[in-house]
Amino acid sequence: MDRIRIVGGNKLQGTIPISGAKNAALPLMIASLLTRERLTLKNVPELADVNLLVRILGNHGVDYAVDGKRNGGSQHAHTVHLTAGDIVDTLAPYDLVSRMRASFWVVAPLVARMGEAKVSLPGGCAIGTRPVDLLLMALEKLGATIEIEAGYVIAKAPKGLRGAEISFPKVTVGGTHTALMAASLAHGHTVIHNAAREPEVVDLADCLIKMGARIKGAGHSTIEVEGVANLSGAYHTVLPDRIEAGTYAMAVAMTGGDVLLEGARPELLQSALDRIEETGASIDATNQGIRVRRNGAGIAAVDMTTAPFPGFPTDLQAQFMALMTRAKGTSRITETIFENRFMHVQELARLGARIRLEGDQAIVEGVERLEGAPVMATDLRASVSLVIAALAAEGETIVNRVYHLDRGFERLEHKLSACGAEVERLASPG
Ligand code: UD1
Repeated sequence: MDRIRIVGGNKLQGTIPISGAKNAALPLMIASLLTRERLTLKNVPELADVNLLVRILGNHGVDYAVDGKRNGGSQHAHTVHLTAGDIVDTLAPYDLVSRMRASFWVVAPLVARMGEAKVSLPGGCAIGTRPVDLLLMALEKLGATIEIEAGYVIAKAPKGLRGAEISFPKVTVGGTHTALMAASLAHGHTVIHNAAREPEVVDLADCLIKMGARIKGAGHSTIEVEGVANLSGAYHTVLPDRIEAGTYAMAVAMTGGDVLLEGARPELLQSALDRIEETGASIDATNQGIRVRRNGAGIAAVDMTTAPFPGFPTDLQAQFMALMTRAKGTSRITETIFENRFMHVQELARLGARIRLEGDQAIVEGVERLEGAPVMATDLRASVSLVIAALAAEGETIVNRVYHLDRGFERLEHKLSACGAEVERLASPG
């Protein structure tokens, strides 16, 4: 497996183009199952998770094409065309679904359009128990019968789904995506209460509306959907990745320097930008993106609590913790979305970080210096937190198991080295 070698100490200087959002691209691609017609998505990032989803959709009969030639692998933002003319199979098998949790969401369009789906229970990042009970509750409310058999969810609605009131007891992004896709093709009116307000939900709703869905209120906690009999093809551009933008903003706050995050949209990550500013970096919105600078001043310790949007995203928690390892003073980081999302703590400690865990809180005592070491990536966001720490550590860090990075960060080593960081990928022997 590939590794990434980083020699810390360089400031970041330059421009980092922000890719299309992985967490928007995945549900958008899945939405292609809702129509016989062609769905064209622009700005789809080139990532392992996207490639895996292409295989899963291909299994159901989705025809996939990419615009333009792959320019020796250097072309990264793709325009993709997805056409689910005929769905040849409503089964999503374990060996594919177990590798990426979001692929479970195919259950919604399959049951809405075909009246049945058999989808393996998901796997994905090892960040605590991540059940699918709320996704299934939403489908049941819409009239599907659900059975669980030998690790598979069997959802059936032979006469079609029907509109309903769905109240989520807890904010769930996947649950909201599922409810939106299913309700779009249900008979009648659906109201989703306590819906997720994440920008990726709004992006999915925008695309569904272009496909002919009748959705009101996406981005608010109550969403209303008036079902339609058929959806059509559409053309949609994936929104920029706020998690990638926040990650590089924290990298600059960590190393110092001056970087333009090209194409990033501040309103998608305001609460994270606010916390980063409190640490001592300056943030400016420009018409090209977000400019992040830190010169001279040290890193101030700042407390942070994750929350559903518009709160601080859990997907930036590990990166913020990495930043706090070098702060002047102690910060308290509280994780409210996922239990057990602190696997990066042990690895950050290998670089010299001082972090204590107390239930859902991490108490980070800033240190003067971090020192490079071999570390192991455990999940997507945790692995990039190790990269951030390594950029400020003395000497060499080798991040092993970079497969996790490739799932969510497009061309990370290129983007960082173009800004002066000493980062390279070491291909695995053989
Ligand atoms: C999505 C994101 C992920 C992000 C998360 C929270 C994608 C591909 N993934 O994941 O990067 O960290 O939102 O912003 O977009 N829950 C239940 N039952 C359910 C579903 C969820 O109890 O049926 C719980 C989860 O365990 C978690 C919370 O609800 O505690 C939020 O999870 P959810 O928003 O559903 O996360 P995902 O959609 O899986």
